[in-house]
Amino acid sequence: MSERIRLHKFLADCGVASRRKSEEIIERGHVKVNGRVVDEVGTTVDPFSDTVMVDDTPVNVHKEKIHILMNKPKGVVTTTIDPEKRQTVIDVLGTVDVRVYPVGRLDYDTEGVLLLTNDGELANALLHPSSEIWKVYEVKVKGVPHYAQINKLKQGLVLDDGPTAPARVKVEEGTGRNTWLVLGLTGGRYHQIKRMCASVGLPVLKLRRIEFAGLRVDEMNPGEWRYLKPKEVGRLWALARSARAAAEARRRRAKGGRPEKPKVPVTDSR
Ligand code: URA
Repeated sequence: MSERIRLHKFLADCGVASRRKSEEIIERGHVKVNGRVVDEVGTTVDPFSDTVMVDDTPVNVHKEKIHILMNKPKGVVTTTIDPEKRQTVIDVLGTVDVRVYPVGRLDYDTEGVLLLTNDGELANALLHPSSEIWKVYEVKVKGVPHYAQINKLKQGLVLDDGPTAPARVKVEEGTGRNTWLVLGLTGGRYHQIKRMCASVGLPVLKLRRIEFAGLRVDEMNPGEWRYLKPKEVGRLWALARSARAAAEARRRRAKGGRPEKPKVPVTDSR
């Protein structure tokens, strides 16, 4: 007999969602084990003999890993289930029968590059704060920015949930009333771009992510998606590993000592 594991861990291992999110999914009654709804987080399952379903879709630990690149349209939520019944990125995928989940979030009104996968390990590696993966956005802001506002964005600023890392900012084009910026950053906190711009007096009117971990959707219309090629997946892994190693080395240099162990386990990062 195989070892029993906790249901929320099983769901996370299968790429359904992070462990924390999986607990919520269980508590909301979305999960059935051997045909019966289980809403207790402490439940354990046998990953090889129990049949686990989320919203009546079987969850399978043996499924091959798939990686999807989408140009997320506006007006779509980046969750797998929406209590308000709005269209989700999973609805946009339509025909994919393997349960995938988004790597990070884009707001309802943001469009652009979104990675979806059932590869929880890769998702965690890319999302872990120490990975320092670059995300690049085109941002239409109200007004014409003063160089002091741009400098503040570049240097990093303090939001209500803490300081932001320095950003790369380029002023593109403007009409005199609005201006397009290209803004690159690592990290990705809730509404981060909108809050950063608002905090220097530049309300965001439009937001489009044009790059995530080197992936772009230039040739794809909003709503289009494609599977990543094995070479692209390999590149993502290499990037996640090297960005993490670089961050670790920087920290070590700053402390002048030995590398510290990451405080948050990789698998619990989302
Ligand atoms: N920052 C935001 O404010 N919104 C997004 O969708 C992404 C980054």
